[in-house]
Amino acid sequence: MDLFDRLKELRDKGLAEIDKAESEEKLNDVRVKLVGRKGELTEILHSMKDVAPENRREIGQRVNKLRDLFNDKLDDAKTEIVKALVEERLEKEKIDVTLPGRENHIGSEHPINIILDDLEKYFIGMGYQVVQGPEIETDHYCFEMMNLPKDHPARDMQATFYVDPEDLLRSQTSGDQARVLEKHDFSKGPLKMVGPGKVYRRDDDDATHSHQFMQMEGLVIDKNVTMGDLKGTLELLTRHIFGEDRETRLRPSYFPFTEPSVEMDVSCFNCDGKGCAICKYTGWIEVLGAGMVHPNVLENAGIDSSVYGGFAFGVGLDRFAILKYGIDDIRDFYTNDVRFLEQFRKEER
Ligand code: PHE
Repeated sequence: MDLFDRLKELRDKGLAEIDKAESEEKLNDVRVKLVGRKGELTEILHSMKDVAPENRREIGQRVNKLRDLFNDKLDDAKTEIVKALVEERLEKEKIDVTLPGRENHIGSEHPINIILDDLEKYFIGMGYQVVQGPEIETDHYCFEMMNLPKDHPARDMQATFYVDPEDLLRSQTSGDQARVLEKHDFSKGPLKMVGPGKVYRRDDDDATHSHQFMQMEGLVIDKNVTMGDLKGTLELLTRHIFGEDRETRLRPSYFPFTEPSVEMDVSCFNCDGKGCAICKYTGWIEVLGAGMVHPNVLENAGIDSSVYGGFAFGVGLDRFAILKYGIDDIRDFYTNDVRFLEQFRKEER
C-alpha cells in the first residue's frame, strides 16, 4: 500500500475513533495515537525516505493537513464532551426555586441573660468592673472571709451542696467581694465591682424558689461612702430595670457581712401589691439583700476599716427577670422549654 492510500485509510479510521471516544480520557488516548510524538502520523513521516522524491512534498503537505484536521476534530470532540458533562450536572442538580425554603430556627436569648447583659452594661457605664468568681467556692471565701466562721448560726440560711468539707457549690456570690478586696490597690482609686454568676442552695423549689439561681454581687469601697449612697444606687438600679412606676421598699434585715443590713422588695407584678399566690399574699417580692460592709470583712482582707468603708448588694437576677417580664414560675428558667424561650426573641420583646 502506498503512502497516499495509508493516509486516506488513517483519515477514515482516525475520524471514526474520534467520533467514538466518549470520555476525556479516551479522547486523549486517541490524540496520542493519531498525532502524538510516536503516533501514526509521525510514523508516516518517518517512512518518507522510501517515497519517490517527487512525491515527498505532496505527502508532507497531506500529513500536515491531516494533522490539522485531526487536531480540529479532537478539539471539537473535547468541547462536546465537556459541554455534555456540564449539562448532565446541571440536570442532576436542578433546584426548584419556587419551593418554599427550609425554616431556619434561630435561638433566642435567655431572659436571665437579657437582664444580665443589661445590668453589666449599666454598671460598666457607672465605672464598675465586672468580675467572675468560681462556682465551686471554698468555705474560706464563701463564708469565713465574709464574717461567717464555722458553726455560725447564719450558715443555716445558706445550707448548700458541699463537694468536700472545704469546697461547696457557692450559696452566694459574696465570696467575690473577699477575692476582690484582697487584691484591690486603693492608691489607684475606689473599688467598684459587680460579680454575676450562678449560686446554689438547698431549697424546696416552688414558683419563686429554685435550688439554683443567678445572683449579681455588687461592692463599692472608698473613703466616706454612706448608706445614702447605697439607697441612691439601689433606687437608680431598680428604676433602670422596672421603670419609674414600680414601687420598691427597703426593710431592715440581717447579713453577717453587712451592718446595718437591708432587703429590697419590689411590688408584685401580678397583683400590683394587692396580694396573690405569687407574692405569697404580701404584695411584695424580695429582689436583693444589701448593707454597709461589716468592718470584719474589710479587716479580714487586710483593709483598714477606720479609713475605708462602703456598701454591698446581692441582686437575685431570676427575681428581676420574673418581675420585669411577668413570669409566674421561676422553674421555667431552668426547664428550657423552647416555647417559653421563644417569647424572648428580640423582635417580640
Ligand atoms: N449574699 C446575700 C444573699 O445571698 C445577699 C447580700 C449580698 C446581702 C451583699 C448583703 C450584701 O442573700
